[in-house]
Amino acid sequence: MDQEKVTISYLMEKKRMGKKITMVTAYDYPSARLLDEAGIDVLLVGDSVGMVVLGYDSTIPVTMDEMIHHCKAVSRGTKRAFIIGDMPFLSYQVSIEKAIENAGRFIKKGGCDAVKLEGGSEVAHIVKAITDMGIPVCGHIGLTPQRATMLSGYRVQGKDIETAKALIRSAKDLEKAGAFMIVMECIPDLLAKIITEEVQVPTVGIGAGPYCDGQVLVYHDILGLFERFVPKFVKQYINLSSQIKEAVSKFKEEVESGDFPKDEHSFHMDPEEAKKLIED
Ligand code: KIV
Repeated sequence: MDQEKVTISYLMEKKRMGKKITMVTAYDYPSARLLDEAGIDVLLVGDSVGMVVLGYDSTIPVTMDEMIHHCKAVSRGTKRAFIIGDMPFLSYQVSIEKAIENAGRFIKKGGCDAVKLEGGSEVAHIVKAITDMGIPVCGHIGLTPQRATMLSGYRVQGKDIETAKALIRSAKDLEKAGAFMIVMECIPDLLAKIITEEVQVPTVGIGAGPYCDGQVLVYHDILGLFERFVPKFVKQYINLSSQIKEAVSKFKEEVESGDFPKDEHSFHMDPEEAKKLIED
């Protein structure tokens, strides 16, 4: 199934064939290149950039300008993967006009293939308005970090029958509104299974168990680059933080001891020429 540029029909086909979709967040040129070369299907320029790259306490302060800046870098580093730009807080809620205009910026300026926005049934009319303009939209239900305060923190959603039913409804409403894919964050595994079976579009889970059509994780979490907290659903495949600290400490040690740079790291000049510089 490998092909040049990943498309929506390729992602749909993966769901149909029972092949898992892979998605990882990317925020810059080098991470995009590495993920693209590793064959990841979808790069999500998540508003999580605010926390893992920009050092904010939440995703709330992230601006459209910051998102576009990071999307441009990601699109410069990507050849095959499908790129989704994450619409930041208040970039799509204020008015339909503003939502369409901002979604358009992700495509025109950011080089993205699609946008993602958080929310269920209550944002279905916004999803419809943006998709009607020809911009593909990925939904995001369950734990929606832009509403973490309303949800009383970063908690698992849909644990009781009422909220679980509301999430099923939301997924159906988003699909009906034209969403081409739905991210499901922090919901019970069997609820994610039901939703995945109830909608035709692919579902991609993060903390939503193994039955989704695909999985997404944050780049810095997979690589052990974000040390402030590690959610239960994260699998760290490597601890780069400790490896980076080790490498940088070694550099410090060698500079201080005079072991770096060595001859092979230096540009040489004829000593006779150098002498002339002093004489002059
Ligand atoms: O911003 C982000 O990284 C996300 C993922 C957690 C899905 O929305």
